[in-house]
Amino acid sequence: MLGSGTKRPEAPEKRGEMTHARASGATSTEPVTASAGKPAKTIETRGVNLFYGDFHAVEEVTMTIEPNKVTALIGSSGCGKTTFLRSLNRMHELTPGARVEGAVTLDGEDVYDSRVDPVAVRRLIGMVFQQPNPFPTMSIYDNVAAGLNLNSTKVSKAQKDSVVERSLRRAHLWDEVKDRLDKPGGSLSGGQQQRLCIARAIAVEPEVLLMDEPCSALDPVATLAVEDLIGELKNRYTIAIVTHNMQQASRASDVTAFFNLDETGKPGHLVEMGPTQEIFTNPKQKETEDYVSGRFG
Ligand SMILES: Nc1ncnc2c1ncn2[C@@H]1O[C@H](COP(=O)(O)OP(=O)(O)OP(=O)(O)O)[C@@H](O)[C@H]1O
Ligand SMILES: [Mg+2]
Repeated sequence: MLGSGTKRPEAPEKRGEMTHARASGATSTEPVTASAGKPAKTIETRGVNLFYGDFHAVEEVTMTIEPNKVTALIGSSGCGKTTFLRSLNRMHELTPGARVEGAVTLDGEDVYDSRVDPVAVRRLIGMVFQQPNPFPTMSIYDNVAAGLNLNSTKVSKAQKDSVVERSLRRAHLWDEVKDRLDKPGGSLSGGQQQRLCIARAIAVEPEVLLMDEPCSALDPVATLAVEDLIGELKNRYTIAIVTHNMQQASRASDVTAFFNLDETGKPGHLVEMGPTQEIFTNPKQKETEDYVSGRFG
């Protein structure tokens, strides 16, 4: 357990799951897919406030992101969706001056506990960005294996081959690239690159996938392919996706969280959250209705 008050461990290997679960798979005889088959995990935030220096970007977000569901985060530009998403796996900490208050837990374990290794958190809670960002000169194979390579030199070639193939299959990309795995990641189309990034994110067997407008750089066909993929991935993972596309939120998500900024100068905040169909057809707040019906945003 990672809870505060427990005995301080001496070595990273002895720390809680966030510090050793994936790393152990890569450094021992344990298969690299140690988490396969495990139930997905719940992310909870309590009173999360996010700041850039003195600027208060996101105020008091308390929400539960449920396992095996797709949670869409929607809201107008600048209301803090990306900032909030990045706080869930401590990516926020990579921005100079950025600060978080409040609690984020993964199945009850404090993501921000001082004993938790942020790199391990980012493996368990993977992220896919708006612009596909494969390593452009690195081969397709090495792009997918990148997370494994970073964490260990002891993953055998056969293990790596199997993780790469499985991840590319799960990302619906295998058939398109299986005969050119040695070609650079940058040689793929935008939609293929985004699926490559998804394969790279799932190769390390995360518990959660965070996606920040993953389809905004894609054409409608590639968008639908990625949406289908997201629908399948939720069987294994907990997924949160930021989108400006209302059709996408209603098609691809089970739960929707609406964030807003208002004229009072209040920071971005969560207005309401609920089953997607309810948020789109019968929201409790007028501002949600205005947004989802396209009256603003
Ligand atoms: N690195 C940063 N430094 C300072 N302020 C920032 C930084 N990143 C974001 N902000 C500010 O924080 C607020 C929230 O930004 P954020 O990018 O989270 O919004 P968003 O909801 O994701 O918007 P969009 O829909 O346009 O992507 C904005 O006012 C933005 O200008
Ligand atoms: Mg954003």
